[in-house]
Amino acid sequence: MTMQSATAPPPSPAVLGDQPPPPSSAEPTARGITLGGRHLASRYFLAPLAGYTHLAFRRVIREMGGVGLCTTDLVQASHLVSGTRWARELVQTHSTDTPLTVQIYGGEVRHMVAAARWLEDHGYQAIDINMGCPMAKITGSGGGARLMCNGDGACQLVGEVVRAVRLPVSVKMRLGWDRSRLTAPLLAEEFEQLGVCAITIHGRTRQQGFTGNVCLEGIRAVVEAVKSIPVVGNGDVRTVADALRMRRETGCAAVAIGRGALMDPWIFRRIALAEEGDPQGAEFTPSPAEQTSFLRRHFELMVEQHGEFLSCRNFRKFAAWYGARLGIPEDLEDRLRQFESVAEFAAIADQIEERHGTRLEPLPTALIRTPNGPVEYW
Ligand SMILES: Cc1cc2nc3c(=O)[nH]c(=O)nc-3n(C[C@H](O)[C@H](O)[C@H](O)COP(=O)(O)O)c2cc1C
Repeated sequence: MTMQSATAPPPSPAVLGDQPPPPSSAEPTARGITLGGRHLASRYFLAPLAGYTHLAFRRVIREMGGVGLCTTDLVQASHLVSGTRWARELVQTHSTDTPLTVQIYGGEVRHMVAAARWLEDHGYQAIDINMGCPMAKITGSGGGARLMCNGDGACQLVGEVVRAVRLPVSVKMRLGWDRSRLTAPLLAEEFEQLGVCAITIHGRTRQQGFTGNVCLEGIRAVVEAVKSIPVVGNGDVRTVADALRMRRETGCAAVAIGRGALMDPWIFRRIALAEEGDPQGAEFTPSPAEQTSFLRRHFELMVEQHGEFLSCRNFRKFAAWYGARLGIPEDLEDRLRQFESVAEFAAIADQIEERHGTRLEPLPTALIRTPNGPVEYW
């Protein structure tokens, strides 16, 4: 089985399973959008969340419906090419994991170009350049948000990646490094001329980290700076109303949702129902059985990829995000943080189904986990 590509690639070692392509999920619809030559059925995308938006999560969230595009976690360009196990695992995909964009990062042009070529040669569909990550281990080597401080360097890097491949290339960035350097509109204008197919803009500066509110005017300034490429608005979308407001107030063509999808895996379906004119769509509530089956399915897909030992460990960090939203009683959420085997998970899931909704704690806000403390020390 091969992955979709303009260049008839060789069979990809990164593809898990051997199933036919999914039914017409990439068919254009009135609500869809064309981005870099790809027709996406919805304008609402999953934003990358390193450590969470791995293959299993992307597959299960797609199964819930309404997602137009998923992007992998950021992958270090040089590691992808040299073939470290971790980098290759991050780009592992599946025939149902489409449409997909792979996000790469790095401060050196030659690494980014080599990674882009590697992705093209291995049949991937599209490339996104990370220009928003605030973490020191990424910015320290000149990648992530650091690129936004060096306009010439950023343009050289983007231009060379675009020229190196036939795949569509997009950029995801923040408003700028800090309040005094809001470089996003200028960079977006330049990147459009260099041939990028879209810009995703998280409406915060690097200095803000994840604090404060997302700045919709800042996103709007990027929308106004480009001529015709789609701008994808991003940041703090937790509800259908937030998503519609993002589009209305910024004029963005599409919206990327990250943490909101972890807290509410049905957010894309709710948006799709609302856009189809279903007045109850925004209120859609999955049944307790559906909620538990989401949990089981996510874990099952993890085990399929990583086996029992690693999946038990990796799934534990989802407990905090899923706990209150999926009606999981506190003691069972605690057990989800510690379980050791597939059998134990199955027993916990059975109990969650039986005792669904008996949780005492209200919806948490503190469980929206992000790096904290002064951004200088991240
Ligand atoms: C834990 C975590 C991991 C993230 N990883 C990435 C990443 O790999 N690539 C990226 O471009 N952005 C990453 N982001 C930023 C998100 O994609 C998004 O821009 C940000 O969280 C704001 O959107 P949201 O409020 O919808 O989550 C990450 C954010 C968080 C909280």
